[in-house]
Amino acid sequence: MVNLLVVLILFLIIITFWCNYRSTKVKWSVENISIDRFKFPSNFLWGSATSAHQVEGGCTNNDWVLWETAYNENGMPRIKDGQRVGKASDHWNRYKEDFKLLKDLGCNAFRFSLEWSKIEPEPGKWDKSALEHYQEVCETLKQEKIVPFVTLHHFTNPIWIWNKGGFENPDTIQYFTEYVYKVGETLGHWVDYWGTINEPTVYSTLGWLNGIFPPGKRDVSLAARVFFNILKAHAEAFHALHDIDRFDADGDGVPCRVGIIKSIEIFDPARRWFVPDWYVCKIIDRTFNQSTLEAIQTGKFIFKMPGIVSYEENYPRLENTLDWVGLNYYTQNLCKLDLRSEQKFKIFPDKKLPETDMGWAVYPQGLYHAIKMLNVLGVPIYITENGLANDANDLREKYILDHIDAANEAIADGIDVRGYFYWSLMDNFEWAEGFDKRFGLYHVNYKTQQRTLKEGSKIYKEIISAVKK
Ligand code: FCB
Repeated sequence: MVNLLVVLILFLIIITFWCNYRSTKVKWSVENISIDRFKFPSNFLWGSATSAHQVEGGCTNNDWVLWETAYNENGMPRIKDGQRVGKASDHWNRYKEDFKLLKDLGCNAFRFSLEWSKIEPEPGKWDKSALEHYQEVCETLKQEKIVPFVTLHHFTNPIWIWNKGGFENPDTIQYFTEYVYKVGETLGHWVDYWGTINEPTVYSTLGWLNGIFPPGKRDVSLAARVFFNILKAHAEAFHALHDIDRFDADGDGVPCRVGIIKSIEIFDPARRWFVPDWYVCKIIDRTFNQSTLEAIQTGKFIFKMPGIVSYEENYPRLENTLDWVGLNYYTQNLCKLDLRSEQKFKIFPDKKLPETDMGWAVYPQGLYHAIKMLNVLGVPIYITENGLANDANDLREKYILDHIDAANEAIADGIDVRGYFYWSLMDNFEWAEGFDKRFGLYHVNYKTQQRTLKEGSKIYKEIISAVKK
């Protein structure tokens, strides 16, 4: 008996050492970072990211507008203090001015999304003026020599899609593909970089697991189904774009490059000496990070958490549907086994780290880990979102510097990182949080729509100018 106990303890010690040894280590000093040390390829894309609903204004025909007047089980408005998106940052009318602001920073790329509900307000009915608007946006970018990165789905759906069950309904994949064909045909002349879906994990889990995005459901099996349907929609969009977009907009010989935008959150054990916490991390990482990567590599989608959900499906048309991958990285969380809670684990930010207004821990080393994680896909990586809500503006400068430094380290290690897009160009409508959380490089006065560069954002301009020398 004693022998068995000794063996078990030894075994646990060895596993704990092995887990610690295997976890990615940061090899560089995160203190006293110097811009002069940065080495980015000369064709690196420096940009900023937005999404239609959050910045454009005039989105009156999508599911997020329905959400504005909805209430949760406790009678609270779904969006903080009942805020409405309205004009948002009025980017629909001010895009030319906004591109000048982007240029002032030295940027050469812009990520934005198309609002499906404006383009196809009713099934099969294409709104000519909306399509022309996006053509003008692309033409302006071309004149400014800014590379467009176009996202096709960034959390919102037309109301008519909503009424058909959104991505719970597999027919939505076909509707989405038709919309993709239409925009591929209309904008292919200007666009080479297409991002199909923004954050499939966040979209399906916040809507169907945590219930804080529409439709506010808490049904893990449904979340898994929506997740898989949206990955299938990615696959179909990939094939559709390669079929329709044969125009090489930037003259580099490749007419169309299609990627998906994947959010990566780093999950680390709350107690590095406690094997069950490592196990919890592994499960959560597999479910929220690895399942998408695997599905896109192999066509097989596995969404499993012991005792909670077990979903497995295959879609061969999904296999190898990536020309590049977009990485959205914001934060790290700690995980621990918690037998008293219903789900038996807990996920929470490390209170020792600085915290943004979203309550997200600032952990730049996580960006390096996330890049390494995506590197298994073997395609170029673009950091399509990274940034912070910080109204006091006391963390922004260091945040930008430290995260770009982490990207620089990954490049120094030989990883093919080709761009960095700060989220976001200007303050905007932060989904369930409304306008209170200010991520912008530029502050927006919502009464006058005036944009002002934040003190903490100036470092971004300095970095871009330094690395271009
Ligand atoms: C990401 C979303 C983006 C923005 C940032 C803060 O998950 O893609 O629209 O809300 O978070």
